[in-house]
Amino acid sequence: MNDLAGKHLVLGLTGGIAAYKSAELARRLQDRGATVQVVMTESATRFITAVTMQALTGRPVFTDQWDARQPNNMAHIDLSREADAIVVVPASTDFLAKLANGLCDDLLTTMCIARDCPLLVAPAMNLQMWSHPATRRNVARLVDDGVVVLGPASGDQACGEVGSGRMLEPHEILDDVIAFFQPKRLAGRRLLITAGPTREPVDPVRSITNHSSGKMGYAIARAAHEAGADVMLVSGPVSLATPRGVVRIDVETARQMHDVVMREATRADCFVAVAAVADWHVLNAADHKLKKTTTVEAGDGHAVPGLELRFEANPDILAAVAALPSPPYCVGFAAETEDLHGNAESKLARKKAQMIVGNLATEAFGRDDNALTLYTAAGRTVLERADKLVLARQLVAAIADRLPSTESR
Ligand code: C5P
Repeated sequence: MNDLAGKHLVLGLTGGIAAYKSAELARRLQDRGATVQVVMTESATRFITAVTMQALTGRPVFTDQWDARQPNNMAHIDLSREADAIVVVPASTDFLAKLANGLCDDLLTTMCIARDCPLLVAPAMNLQMWSHPATRRNVARLVDDGVVVLGPASGDQACGEVGSGRMLEPHEILDDVIAFFQPKRLAGRRLLITAGPTREPVDPVRSITNHSSGKMGYAIARAAHEAGADVMLVSGPVSLATPRGVVRIDVETARQMHDVVMREATRADCFVAVAAVADWHVLNAADHKLKKTTTVEAGDGHAVPGLELRFEANPDILAAVAALPSPPYCVGFAAETEDLHGNAESKLARKKAQMIVGNLATEAFGRDDNALTLYTAAGRTVLERADKLVLARQLVAAIADRLPSTESR
């Protein structure tokens, strides 16, 4: 996916053992379409060579503010003027301290002070250095100055200690950089999203479920977070990583999903029901593992080996949320195998949702791409086949356009 196409980034490296991860990040940023210009401090070159970074980016690396390769000898101005953002990975304690105090005694800090583009930094340091009052003050001041601080995370550190200060992984920094460039059309809004299948037990080791992979719901959760929303994802059993910044609550059954959603829905501005919720649960589920020798009554009244299950309808979560006295903006999904238009239109009315997103189950389940039609009282909008994240961003933009202001709830 080319979600950084046309973006030119200056990737700054300071001295820290996490600098080796910047090599991977440089590759991943370019995979997404960005061009990357590397600037390193002298200490950074002790951890990873400029040759490595040059080979990975295909551009000469700058380390020295007196570098004569720039015709006007003003690398600190020229490099940032061409950039859409400067991303400093790793950002050392010393670098953060200098920047917070406006010091600039090398190319990277001078360029950061002289910049006219956004600055993102990914701190990486020992936990004592991160928790030191001076670092706390410096980071607070940088945030005040509009610098975007990515992480850090908690975990194992190169020094052998465990705690906060560990740099985010390259894929996490990549996701944060991509999110940074997305328009913040849902800033300050709360979205509640369901995703994945539900699993209805037959006995403690068997269940009935469906083929939903959760990919569409997870993509929408990611896109909503990128758009600045507070996102809570209520997820059935899937094997997907939680999108960055999204709060996830795991459930198994439709009734569990219903209970969590009803608890959270009153606080949401928008509810997006993407989950393929089971329509029924097994009424006579066993509390012990059923044996193969279980019998049922055959037509002639004789007992034969077999199993009879009885089902009861699950609550319709979307309809229940839409029926709340002051409901959020409700978006439902219609995954159909035939008559998509008819089914989607009737769901819009029956469930009292504000929008139904229609797709063909046979062309959506488990795949990385999809095609959507949005149905509202005002008519239809077709979103052409594309990667699910691309579609999720388009859907989030369509929701943002229609979401009533907070005061009107
Ligand atoms: O009625 P049907 O299952 O076709 O409707 C699909 C839409 O309703 C989806 O948005 C799905 O998440 C939601 N739904 C629900 N609770 C159910 C069944 C479906 O929220 N029990």
